[in-house]
Amino acid sequence: MKVAVIGTGYVGLTTAVSLAMKGHEVLGIDVDAAKIELLSNGRSPIYEPGLDQVLLEMLGQSKIRFSTKLLEAKEAQVVFVCVGTPEAADGEADLSYLHAALQDIASLHEHSPVERIVVIKSTVPVGTGDWAADSLRRCNQLHVVSNPEFLREGCALEDALNPSRIIVGADSEEAVAVMQTLYSGLSAPWVITTRANAELIKYASNAYLAARISFMNELARLSTVLGTDVTVVSHGMGLDSRIGPQFLRAGIGYGGSCFPKDTIALLKLANQHGVTLGLLEKVREVNASQPVWFIEQLAQKIPDLSGKRIAVLGLAFKPDTDDIREAPALRILAALQAAGAVVSAYDPIAAKAVAALFPDAEYVTAPEAAFVGAHAAVLVTEWQECVKLDWKLIKEQMERPLLFDGRNAWPCDELKKAGFEYQGVGRS
Ligand SMILES: NC(=O)c1ccc[n+]([C@@H]2O[C@H](COP(=O)([O-])OP(=O)(O)OC[C@H]3O[C@@H](n4cnc5c(N)ncnc54)[C@H](O)[C@@H]3O)[C@@H](O)[C@H]2O)c1
Repeated sequence: MKVAVIGTGYVGLTTAVSLAMKGHEVLGIDVDAAKIELLSNGRSPIYEPGLDQVLLEMLGQSKIRFSTKLLEAKEAQVVFVCVGTPEAADGEADLSYLHAALQDIASLHEHSPVERIVVIKSTVPVGTGDWAADSLRRCNQLHVVSNPEFLREGCALEDALNPSRIIVGADSEEAVAVMQTLYSGLSAPWVITTRANAELIKYASNAYLAARISFMNELARLSTVLGTDVTVVSHGMGLDSRIGPQFLRAGIGYGGSCFPKDTIALLKLANQHGVTLGLLEKVREVNASQPVWFIEQLAQKIPDLSGKRIAVLGLAFKPDTDDIREAPALRILAALQAAGAVVSAYDPIAAKAVAALFPDAEYVTAPEAAFVGAHAAVLVTEWQECVKLDWKLIKEQMERPLLFDGRNAWPCDELKKAGFEYQGVGRS
């Protein structure tokens, strides 16, 4: 099929490339001309394992191309909307990019009025798809489908090719049939429902995962005073098939481009309808205080951080991505610098973006180098290269062998035996 994808960020680029791999003819559209230039030359503007290579292959096979002009997609039978829906100043989802994209689709339709499916993949508040369908009603032959995305950054391509489920919110059988043809190569359970249900499934999924993380983070605080080990507790809980092991790891809080903005957008949406989601409010509160709690643990060991060198390992909001949106590392760096600490930081991919926000920190190019002369080291993002380290060398290089493992990923027992002072999250 001929497909256009509006927005070539994490979701749009992954969607475009995975559809090309399935044999569709894809045109990726973005307002960012520099991004389009990079993509047209076979270079991915984002770090996502495997994406660069497949992009080159698809360009080579003429399965994908890129442009700033949607009008080049005259023959597209399906147009995906994958633009950002960031948090607006009032916490609601900012739909201005989506509105602009819909206007472009209306213009395309004026120039080439063919039967076409508009697929909203961006995460949007309940009612947005119905509103879009109403606003495009003047364009006969346009069907609006809600098809939320569940990919995880760091394994985005794999997730797009092997989705956990395909959610399609539509009000016409023709639109559902087109979606079935489009995704015919994918093996996943389907949920065909209304646009509003599809939209709420996306927000509810993210809110629930965020809730599991905050639950474990509170349990970690309790574990710290009880002298129990939250990693053993979560393991024992996760073996219950009703609970499962995913998203039960205590840490320094969730971040990224989705959970923070989607939880507040869901709260705002509920409030607009006179409903209070008290549990979700608490989830956000716990998450906001988790890095503060973590830094307090550090301050108990080093009451005066002024002038002390602190190593910070990992800056991206999670491993295998360059995304620093709402990354906990940003809060940790801000707190350390406010206390007068000298920060030496390492991240294999995201250091440059963080350096633009925190130019006073030192950025090193090898993980072990961050520990040299450090009075303590903090693991913020569990990249493999930040976890598998030469501990013998590190012990010799640190001013004080004090480790704060914000992801419970360093080898606790081995480190204690080797003479490190080790503190994880909720581990006695
Ligand atoms: N990043 C994720 O892990 C993820 C996962 C699932 C769902 N989502 C949702 O998918 C949507 C996109 O997220 P993202 O992380 O890919 O965002 P992003 O910021 O990485 O990419 C958005 C892209 O859209 C482009 N854009 C904006 N307005 C445009 C317009 N009018 N025409 C053409 N291009 C335009 C921007 O230049 C940018 O390249 C959001 O609603 C997000 O909540 C994201």
